[in-house]
Amino acid sequence: MTLLTPYPADGPAAARRRTPAAMPAAPCVLPEPRQAPDAQDLLDPALHWMRQGDAERGMRAAIEGLATLRAGSGDAWPSVVANEVLTHPLRAVLHQCPFTRHSFERPRGYAGDAALIDYIYGTREEALPPLAPLAADIHRLALLAPAPRAVRHRRARLAEAVDATALRCPRGARVLALAAGHLREWALSEAAAGGALAEWVAFDQDPLSVALVERQYGGRGVTAIPGSVRELLTGRRRFEGYDLVYAAGLFDYLTEPVARRLIELMHAALAPGGRLLVANFLPGIADIGYMESMMHWHLIYRSHGQMQGLFDTVTEASRSTLALDTDPDFNVVYAELTRAG
Ligand SMILES: C[S@@+](CC[C@H](N)C(=O)[O-])C[C@H]1O[C@@H](n2cnc3c(N)ncnc32)[C@H](O)[C@@H]1O
Repeated sequence: MTLLTPYPADGPAAARRRTPAAMPAAPCVLPEPRQAPDAQDLLDPALHWMRQGDAERGMRAAIEGLATLRAGSGDAWPSVVANEVLTHPLRAVLHQCPFTRHSFERPRGYAGDAALIDYIYGTREEALPPLAPLAADIHRLALLAPAPRAVRHRRARLAEAVDATALRCPRGARVLALAAGHLREWALSEAAAGGALAEWVAFDQDPLSVALVERQYGGRGVTAIPGSVRELLTGRRRFEGYDLVYAAGLFDYLTEPVARRLIELMHAALAPGGRLLVANFLPGIADIGYMESMMHWHLIYRSHGQMQGLFDTVTEASRSTLALDTDPDFNVVYAELTRAG
């Protein structure tokens, strides 16, 4: 190994002797210490625009500022959120938005409940409280951010998958939705409206969501079943013979071992020729900093490769085929597997 020696081979003393006293010392160039971005610098502009009543510029500055702050904070991000973001006066302004506040407060005790998703879909049962003009603007703009847009696209994609299954199985398709929430894709499905499905099961851990599905769609061909992923993993609950099994807004919360095992169980629940559809947010969505800090909404993001990896066991052990694609904005990856016939 060659080492760069700072002194000539005859030693430092000899080197000192040869250096004229007047020779200026070589400048000592140290690498710049990595500067963490300053939360106040990034959040003050957003607050400024909000105080001017310009919610559009304010939201843009907030979303971009929080993304920059997250990217530059590294492992310190949770403490930056606790000590610098949530203590900044911008928080109180943004929490006037019912969508942002609901997410942050988690009234059902967990992140991403179906009542929150209803804000995104515009299907809330409860009317919005009266909002001041700035609060109404923030609410409207928060719902236009990339992640909510991707969730609306996802809903349409689920309904399309159900309709395609109905066409594939004209004698009556059997559909299973895991973590179904309020099953809002029902209202976008032509097959559901036309009574073309033999069965549509909505499975979810939240009794309030299950009760709503039962109330709204129980008489329209939907069976609402309370239950958790844990019940599936332990074998307490088994499904089989479905033409479509799908989950949206679930894998974004599951660790890799749980996600892998659930894929195996979803595969086992398919009839020959049946399809499995799973969605997961991709890394790098633009509003990630806003979601994680102001909304206390943390997801597990998966790349294409990570998503594909969840299916390895199933695709290696069967002749089932897998296809991956994304939404047009590249925020969500979809994995669609077809079970060999
Ligand atoms: C973000 S919502 C998505 C709802 C719906 N799939 C949609 O796309 O609109 C997440 C849903 O997953 C359900 N959920 C979360 N963890 C679950 C688990 N371990 N077992 C069953 N359901 C779960 C929640 O109750 C909630 O209704």
